[in-house]
Amino acid sequence: ARRTTVLSRTAVAATVPVALAALLAAASPAAAGPVGTAGAGDPYFPLAGNGGYHVHHYDLTLRYDPGSRHLDGRAVLTARATRTLSRFDLDFSGLNVTGLTVDGTPARFRREGQELVVTPRRTLHRGHTFRVTVTYSGTPRPVTDPDGSLDGWIPTDDGAFVAGEPQGAMTWFPANNHPLDKASYDFTLTVPAGRTAVANGVLLGSRTAHGRTTFRWRQSEPMAAYLATATIGTFQVKQYTTRSGIKVYDAVDPREANAAAPVLGKLPSVLEWESRLFGPYPWRAAGSIVDHAPDVGYALETQTRPVYDSAPDLATLVHESAHQWFGDSVSLTTWKDIWLNEGFATYAEWLYAEQHGGRSAQAAFDELYALPADDELWEFPPADPGSGANIFGTPVYARGAMTLHQLRRAVGDRAFLRILRAWADAHRHGHGTTAQFERLAERISGRQLDTLFRTWLHTPGKPPAA
Ligand code: ARG
Ligand code: ZN
Repeated sequence: ARRTTVLSRTAVAATVPVALAALLAAASPAAAGPVGTAGAGDPYFPLAGNGGYHVHHYDLTLRYDPGSRHLDGRAVLTARATRTLSRFDLDFSGLNVTGLTVDGTPARFRREGQELVVTPRRTLHRGHTFRVTVTYSGTPRPVTDPDGSLDGWIPTDDGAFVAGEPQGAMTWFPANNHPLDKASYDFTLTVPAGRTAVANGVLLGSRTAHGRTTFRWRQSEPMAAYLATATIGTFQVKQYTTRSGIKVYDAVDPREANAAAPVLGKLPSVLEWESRLFGPYPWRAAGSIVDHAPDVGYALETQTRPVYDSAPDLATLVHESAHQWFGDSVSLTTWKDIWLNEGFATYAEWLYAEQHGGRSAQAAFDELYALPADDELWEFPPADPGSGANIFGTPVYARGAMTLHQLRRAVGDRAFLRILRAWADAHRHGHGTTAQFERLAERISGRQLDTLFRTWLHTPGKPPAA
């Protein structure tokens, strides 16, 4: 009977949209026992992440040839079952899976859209720590996001620009692809000699043999999958340690070097300034990856070491650096709360300008507030973008920052800075929600802030003048 059911489920998968098929598969009673879910429950990205386990560590070994664009990979995930599992999902899109074991024993698997559905030989008991090894190969391709942008493994003329927000991690390694599940990472990246492969965290070493160089990176603090990178190119590399002991690694495409140098030189002072405002820098490593990737159109706050598609300006460096606290250390619980990342990083830009001889935050606010009621700024409230297509929309960034400015005006500078610092501290290396932020702001300021947050975060349309 079980066999028939499996066959009929495959037939279903062939005739209904992939996403629906994966949801049906997850809900199917046909499995031998309790199963993991095909998503982590995110309303904007229902298939992102998976239920039933937590990944503690990813050990990724990749070999990439920029000429042929061929990737060979092996991912070893160490995970713990949060319920008894006869089956579970990983997120993995594209690439061919050539082998899969669970605790060293070959396991059955099938692909359903972005779901890699794994049936281990033996049921995994709740609380059991298990190890999944996936070997794979092929030509990685980016995913197209609901807003039309590309993310994931994006080939360039000399390597690849690798950035995974919100869903691209699954284009280059099998993952529990939702910020809810953070893990430590080891990367072993092999590229042709002369190219550099840059990941997150600390460089443990590199070795060249037989025309190839292998770089070993370690990200020891917890990281969401979307913040992982393995960006490859012909880079100029600079390494140093800051006065506060942070290990900096900069990799810069020579075509961007002149424009990038003065901005990257400010990284230590930007991180010091942000540490004074937001509390201790969350990681032991830092740096920048400045690629030459004209097709990308954005930068990403890849953990410890943001990746830029071209030489950034100072405001962008301040923005991606602020994300190390807001977004990377304090992670989203749901993509709907994206303003907790983008509103905060944008407000950091405003504060930086204000304190470095530029425009005041009030002036930035006023300029935006002057925009007419039909401007895209007022299209939706920042804490309710409505769908994954809007998570990088103007209201998330600009009206998100305006909300923080309103908060600052309501509670005063001292309480406002205490709130920012308490937020970074209370959820350090963890997660937060909009509701938690609202409660924390009220607790620290001793003020009733319902109306302020309702107006600025949750109500559609241009808020009336205060
Ligand atoms: N979080 C990035 C930033 O604001 C933007 C990422 C955009 N990603 C995308 N797929 N469009 O710094
Ligand atoms: Zn941002």
